[in-house]
Amino acid sequence: MKLHNLKDHNEQVSFAQAVRQGLGRNQGLFFPETLPVFDDIDGLLALDFHTRSAKILSAMLGDEFTEAQVKTLVDNAFQFPAPIANVKDGVYALELFHGPTLAFKDFGGRFMAQSLAAVSEGGKITILTATSGDTGAAVAHAFFGMENINVVILYPKGKISPLQEALFCTLGENITTVAVNGDFDDCQALVKNAFDDEALRKEVGLNSANSINISRLMAQICYYFEAVAQLSPAEREELVISVPSGNFGNLTAGLLGKAVGLPVKRFIAATNVNDTVPRYLETGKWEPKQTIPTLSNAMDVSQPNNWPRIEALCARKGWGLAQLGKGVVTDEQSQESVRELHNLGYLCEPHGAIAYRVLNEQLAAGETGIFLCTAHPAKFKEAVDEILDRDIDLPAPLAKHAKLPLLSLERDADFDQLKQVLRDAQ
Ligand SMILES: Cc1ncc(COP(=O)(O)O)c(C=O)c1O
Repeated sequence: MKLHNLKDHNEQVSFAQAVRQGLGRNQGLFFPETLPVFDDIDGLLALDFHTRSAKILSAMLGDEFTEAQVKTLVDNAFQFPAPIANVKDGVYALELFHGPTLAFKDFGGRFMAQSLAAVSEGGKITILTATSGDTGAAVAHAFFGMENINVVILYPKGKISPLQEALFCTLGENITTVAVNGDFDDCQALVKNAFDDEALRKEVGLNSANSINISRLMAQICYYFEAVAQLSPAEREELVISVPSGNFGNLTAGLLGKAVGLPVKRFIAATNVNDTVPRYLETGKWEPKQTIPTLSNAMDVSQPNNWPRIEALCARKGWGLAQLGKGVVTDEQSQESVRELHNLGYLCEPHGAIAYRVLNEQLAAGETGIFLCTAHPAKFKEAVDEILDRDIDLPAPLAKHAKLPLLSLERDADFDQLKQVLRDAQ
């Protein structure tokens, strides 16, 4: 697979190199030069999850991996299902939280870890990533205990849920976690600074496991197909998929799926009040504001780093941005939707509820809707308990970690302090 840097088309890399490198020059994102198009979609949808996923990914990676190698990556990464649940007539929840850290990031994080192990040339690797909540846990668990790979995870102190923190800040060994005095955008800026520092990059073998790493997006394409495969042929005819969006990696993966043949009539970008993209789609002006803390804190992002990929893909496919649905949901409204879903017999946390709300508002007669449930409700237990006035159960992985001591370092949003942490992690 050939990819180029969206900021510098002369920088062209293989998939292996893009996985190792993460970001290109000038913090440019890598993007596939070409994409396969599947014509027998019904045949593809008839396959089981792993066989279908291996087929999709082989069509992209076939010049670098054999089909058997891709199948092994898929088998090792996707060891949990992605079921859809019928919430009401014509509306389904795609449950992406059945992995070890109970969030959709388990798919991308684990596929990236497998890919990186497959393409690493035996040298030292330091994974540096910023998280607004769930990426950290998915990455930490995907790489925990892997030889020659150190992981450093930055997160905004006090701005992720205590349970999210417990899930990835209690592991130790090759996982270093840093609570940064700042917000998620500060963490993301520190990561970008580190990648811009050529000497540091070489010294510690820097690599990113954020949603900027293309391998994560490729893994995510697979669960969109898995969702559609569970619908009846009639339901596939006019399908709308609503994606709760922060950094827009998940929506990028969905659109990549559509580019290779996923039958979707329309995608909806659903955000909380950090609404840079919906405003941009409305006005054509890119005007990020100060990030506002919300109940759906993993989506508190005002400078979504995957957006250039969506622009590039839409331009290539001739899809006008106006075709993208959009919607902005306040905390009050997301709480209302958590309660509405509960009354329908479905337990959901605020991120998924945002996608549900916008879908529900915009679904037309005759259309079938899927909204993505990106995290298990128990990952946002404090919020869900309060909204529903209940005490929901913790699933086993969360209950275990919640009892362990936090091992995080605390640092300012300062690049020199980060450099020291990276060196100490070696
Ligand atoms: C629970 C949850 N929902 C939604 C999102 C937003 O996904 P994306 O950043 O791919 O837009 C995140 C991202 O961290 C998340 O953790």
